[in-house]
Amino acid sequence: MNIVIVSTPAHAERLAARIVADRVAKEPSLVLGCATGGTMEGVYDALVTMATAEAVDFSRVRTFNLDEYVGVATDDERSYYHYMNERFFSRVNLDPANCHVPDGSAPDPEAEAAAFEAKIAKAGGVGLQLLGIGNNGHIGFNEPLSSFASRTRVQPLAPRTREQNAPHFGGDPAAVPATALTMGVGTILESKEALLVATGAHKANILATTLEGPITGVVTATALHLHPDCTVIADEAAAAGLALTDFYRATAAAHPRLGRYEHLFD
Ligand code: F6R
Repeated sequence: MNIVIVSTPAHAERLAARIVADRVAKEPSLVLGCATGGTMEGVYDALVTMATAEAVDFSRVRTFNLDEYVGVATDDERSYYHYMNERFFSRVNLDPANCHVPDGSAPDPEAEAAAFEAKIAKAGGVGLQLLGIGNNGHIGFNEPLSSFASRTRVQPLAPRTREQNAPHFGGDPAAVPATALTMGVGTILESKEALLVATGAHKANILATTLEGPITGVVTATALHLHPDCTVIADEAAAAGLALTDFYRATAAAHPRLGRYEHLFD
């Protein structure tokens, strides 16, 4: 696990975008795992700005999103497909046929989940997986006690998650769909590289629990300690609860791959 602490959310977004853009330049047919949520909005903005300025070519990149609400159709503006299309897919030269988001309106959600998992496998697995972290430690919509071996499936949403996402559903947690399709923890752990972005003081407790607490099924993100190549980018507010920050800063600066981004840390 690598932890990079940067000064502000803008720095975190820029660094995450830089890592993705450099990876696409190096590997034009990258399989990119995408996350949604508030944290990722700035990451996609920064990535689109970079892609436009530097003519980053996404034409062969394939994307797979982490999750989608069950019962919410692609053309619904509350869908994650809509979010992705507005913020990323339509703003770079991605081929729409290469962009995969689970279909929340599929008549058989479990079959849709299995088909989505099979598509990821057929693409050779995810190369670089972007992640946010929920207030309860979920990654994707893998809620507490999701098996670390889980695959893409239908997952009931925890009350805390429905509260967190209520603003997108008129402010009423009960209006947030009760279930979602999500990539599994096992699927995420098989990505070649994972990049988790956490910004803001409201993420400080869960980030400290995740990074410096024990591995536990109650905090799904702790599964990332089992990932062979996971980097966490946190701004100072989100990193405020961490004990070993001096060590993390020194390690990131000396890291052969991350160290060359040191000029973007502050
Ligand atoms: C969304 C997703 C979630 C979010 C998490 C953080 O696709 O997978 O795990 O990344 O809930 O959301 P924000 O960034 O809104 O705090």
